[in-house]
Amino acid sequence: MQRLQDRVAVITGAGSGIGLATARRFAQEGARVVCADIDEEAGVKAAAEVGGLFVKADVTSEEDVERLFRTAFETYGSVDVAFNNAGISPPDDDSILETGLDAWRRVQEVNLTSVYLCCKHALEYMRRQGKGSIINTASFVAVMGSATSQISYTASKGGVLSMSRELGVQFAREGIRVNALCPGPVNTPLLQELFAKDPERAQRRLVHVPIGRFAEASEIAAAVAFLASDDASFITASQFLVDGGISGAYVTPL
Ligand SMILES: NC(=O)c1ccc[n+]([C@@H]2O[C@H](COP(=O)([O-])OP(=O)(O)OC[C@H]3O[C@@H](n4cnc5c(N)ncnc54)[C@H](O)[C@@H]3O)[C@@H](O)[C@H]2O)c1
Repeated sequence: MQRLQDRVAVITGAGSGIGLATARRFAQEGARVVCADIDEEAGVKAAAEVGGLFVKADVTSEEDVERLFRTAFETYGSVDVAFNNAGISPPDDDSILETGLDAWRRVQEVNLTSVYLCCKHALEYMRRQGKGSIINTASFVAVMGSATSQISYTASKGGVLSMSRELGVQFAREGIRVNALCPGPVNTPLLQELFAKDPERAQRRLVHVPIGRFAEASEIAAAVAFLASDDASFITASQFLVDGGISGAYVTPL
């Protein structure tokens, strides 16, 4: 499928995980991909693999974000898709009883303020063009509670979800769609390492997934490519769950 032929797509956090899988999928579908990451080595590698452009950017810096979208526009002539995906879940963000203000603020900056900045600067170009698709990465934890808390992470993803909904509504008649992607747990190297050390921890989570396994990053990327494309032309302001059924489940199959 070449649904993104000649579209210019900016991806934050393109050096790893969901961002990297999406850079690959976007390129396969014909997009010109601008790979942004704070990690230069990973970002350069991703951009080289997909024949795109690397822009080093810290998504918490307005200067960097402004430069990112300007560079995309100046290099390729438009900004058609923004996949605002960079995010962190550090170990010092835990239960509210343990989490200090510094950890709280850092996660809010990287996961939520960054999405505000990226939307603001992507919208500048998309409004001029009268078209665009913005996909912001939230999480299934924005719609469900967890007893294994990461309090700032969860709150930040709730913020991403409601901000995306509001922007989707505000800009709908300007031809710009804004959706919040809510992935379930994804099979990343970090997750594998954590669960190899602690099988009970893995089982405690897996039991809630009707499909019976975690997602592959490529499965999340497939949903992002759909939302980015005209196949999703009537989808905006949505909470787009790609979660293996977790959020719909009460009792799961044995
Ligand atoms: N992995 C999961 O199970 C899962 C589930 C739901 C949602 N998510 C969300 O999906 C997104 C991607 O997660 P992932 O698992 O692919 O993570 P990852 O750690 O594999 O990749 C994140 C990338 O973002 C980059 N990054 C971090 N801080 C940055 C900053 N300040 N500026 C620019 N780039 C920065 C990192 O260098 C890295 O390349 C995140 O928003 C995460 O919260 C992940």
